[in-house]
Amino acid sequence: MRTSTLPYRHDPPPDSWFRSRRFPADFDTGEIQSYTTGTRHIALDGADNLKITPGRPGFPVLPRSRYVTTLWPMTPYIANARAWQESWDRQQEAYLPDREHRLAAMLDAVDATAAGAPRILDLAGGTGSITLRALQRFPRADVTLLDLDPVLLAIAEASLHGRARIVTADLRRPDWAATLPARGFDAVLTATALHWLPAERLGRLYREIHRLLDDGGIFVNADHMPDDALPGLTARITARADRDRDARYAAGVVLSWRDWWDRVDTDPALGPLAALRREVYPAGHTAEWLPPISWHLDALRAAGFTEVGTIWRGGADAAVAAVR
Ligand SMILES: C[S@@+](CC[C@H](N)C(=O)[O-])C[C@H]1O[C@@H](n2cnc3c(N)ncnc32)[C@H](O)[C@@H]1O
Repeated sequence: MRTSTLPYRHDPPPDSWFRSRRFPADFDTGEIQSYTTGTRHIALDGADNLKITPGRPGFPVLPRSRYVTTLWPMTPYIANARAWQESWDRQQEAYLPDREHRLAAMLDAVDATAAGAPRILDLAGGTGSITLRALQRFPRADVTLLDLDPVLLAIAEASLHGRARIVTADLRRPDWAATLPARGFDAVLTATALHWLPAERLGRLYREIHRLLDDGGIFVNADHMPDDALPGLTARITARADRDRDARYAAGVVLSWRDWWDRVDTDPALGPLAALRREVYPAGHTAEWLPPISWHLDALRAAGFTEVGTIWRGGADAAVAAVR
């Protein structure tokens, strides 16, 4: 795995997180052997030793840290991470029956441009669905997953188990990229996430992503991006998909978004993190903004990408790709 000696900035967790938890003196997560109650900054140093530094206000720089993970929302008690991962995937597939197709299209694009050991950023990666598939396709890949949700990141931590770097950052903030341990990615991949950002912020984010890529690197965003030329048909396709999904919920085939989060609330390990999540996303999540695909293509061109286009479409959803 490529290492970086760059200083690393880490958002400390809110005080309420520390108040809501008690830590054993010697928990064992396989690679991480110690932890101390009441600390706020946890880092792996250049020799992969876990470093815990006392809490300091603001966004302290932890020099000599190779990378800092979101260990703060991690819990060593998630013994059933695989089950949570699977149920997340099923819940997402209820919205996106062709989810695997779009994720495969993304990874095909990575394969075509940077096979071998690609450096990948899984942006707003949640539980790690893209990261896990990328590692399966490219076992030598160097993957960083970034997200803000303490519940989803805890599942990612547990199911990835050290195979990818995990970073907590808020994409609404212009300084989010400062939390990354390194730049120069071959691919930045994201799915079903950036519609949580408002237009102006998303346009800026596209420029920020452009700066994170190496020359020739690619950005792929799969999301709800209707075809501008088919507004009427798209509405009918979407209504049909909604009816199908409601029928599946009613028959108990799969959990709805709300039901999935209700289960999280009752889980002994994830429940406390769900309380923290409500602080991070007080309204559940931010308002959705779902422009047609032309908006994305224009914004990516304006961000400076040399080639911009569509690599996948399924109904009202698409994956746009952009080459730096
Ligand atoms: C529907 S989930 C998709 C997760 C993952 N990409 C997948 O396909 O399974 C949307 C993700 O976007 C993340 N997200 C939303 N707003 C964010 C923000 N401002 N900063 C970081 N992550 C954010 C959420 O926490 C969540 O993990």
